Amino acid sequence: MTPIDARTLIRARASMALPTTDQRRSLLVTVLFLASSFAFAITAGFGLGTWLLLHATIGVPLPEATWSALVQVHGHAQLVGFAGLLVMGIAHRIFPRFRGADEPTTREVVLAYGLVAGGLLLRPAQIWTDLPARDALLMASGAAELAGMLVYARLAIRTLAGGTNAHRADELFIGAGAVFGVIGAMWGLVALAPTLTGGATLDPDPDRAHIAALLLGFVSAHVIGVSLRVAPAFIAAPPASDRVIVGAVIAWAAGVTLATLGEPLGPVVLLGTALVLVRVIGPFGRSVAVRDVPAPARVVRLAFRGAYAWLVAGIALLAAGAIPGMPLGSEVAGRHAIALGFLTQIVFGVGSRLIPAVTGGRAPSVAAVRAAIVLANVAAALRVVFELVGPNVTGAAIALAASGPVALAALSVFGMAAAHSVRSALRSAIA
Ligand code: HEM
Repeated sequence: MTPIDARTLIRARASMALPTTDQRRSLLVTVLFLASSFAFAITAGFGLGTWLLLHATIGVPLPEATWSALVQVHGHAQLVGFAGLLVMGIAHRIFPRFRGADEPTTREVVLAYGLVAGGLLLRPAQIWTDLPARDALLMASGAAELAGMLVYARLAIRTLAGGTNAHRADELFIGAGAVFGVIGAMWGLVALAPTLTGGATLDPDPDRAHIAALLLGFVSAHVIGVSLRVAPAFIAAPPASDRVIVGAVIAWAAGVTLATLGEPLGPVVLLGTALVLVRVIGPFGRSVAVRDVPAPARVVRLAFRGAYAWLVAGIALLAAGAIPGMPLGSEVAGRHAIALGFLTQIVFGVGSRLIPAVTGGRAPSVAAVRAAIVLANVAAALRVVFELVGPNVTGAAIALAASGPVALAALSVFGMAAAHSVRSALRSAIA
């Protein structure tokens, strides 16, 4: 029988550790968040998004509803459902560890979940203008999401302010993210106004502010804060200086606020800050590893590199979108460079480490995570390039259309790998 080398043995032992008591206690709540995030993503998120794209590019028929209403339901399900519930589901487990603090009570966490998920489930009422009590349903949807974001922000900020560990500057990004979640939900409520009097679509300006506050504020600030914290351990990057991070968080918050107010300077400030952040997070920089970086860490580094390259490209496109004469697709291309290239990819990379860490499950297969990352990059590239080229150029419509199914494949491959990890945790929790 071939002797097993030390590293294989360590890996095998690590992947079979039984969940600790606190992991068991909040395992079900964590699984609820992860499964709900995936369910919103595969349906109204990536699913509806792909249908919309196939309609716009190759004329696949859409159900009896307005294009804009369906687009708005898609965008909202992605930002609050896919991204929002994932951020909340991981946050309530890892922030207490960052701080050396007690975990928030299950009741508070489930309250935040119930309000946000409940609000989301009511949101498709926007599609059917003749639905009975539609205005009350939409009002309840917007109010519930705002209440949920407030409960989440309160528990996140309380956790960040508490605990016994020394404070670190990256916590400021996380705190800013929690605040922008509330600001985004407030704009979301304002954007609903026309639909409360029978209108089919949201008010475009508050809707744009809602998207900017959630995508660039709530989601991106959380991802950047966690990236700054885990990059040294996950990708062997040198730790960033607190002084630079403090400057970056002030600039980031200012840039998001300006972008939320529709100021063209907003994305420009964010672009400069993103370039500094890429440097201090260090995915392209010198590694501090004393020996070869193992395969799981290499795949996380691949995700960091792709994600932060797309963040810079996406913000540059948003900035360019404000320049007269720039291709019409710049804003949509910029948004999806950030949504598919940055957010989705970093979820696959960092998620491959955090999901087993918070559930006690086996690590997802490195090959599956790598495949999902490659597919996410292909989907983002097809979307961004051909959104800018425009569907009227020969072959561009097919290429643009293809980005939807490729992104869906990426989500499915990662979803299955993560499900294996969660299932192993549930199995050992009930064993
Ligand atoms: C399979 C992947 C995806 C596809 C095929 C897709 C497709 C689309 C399409 C066709 C539009 C309308 C663009 C237009 O106005 O011409 C759109 C808008 C949007 N998408 Fe996606 N998308 C995808 C993933 C995502 C992700 C991951 C996010 C965010 C996390 C996202 C957020 C948005 C937002 C915020 C809008 C604008 C909604 C509005 O105007 O209210 N999308 N998407």
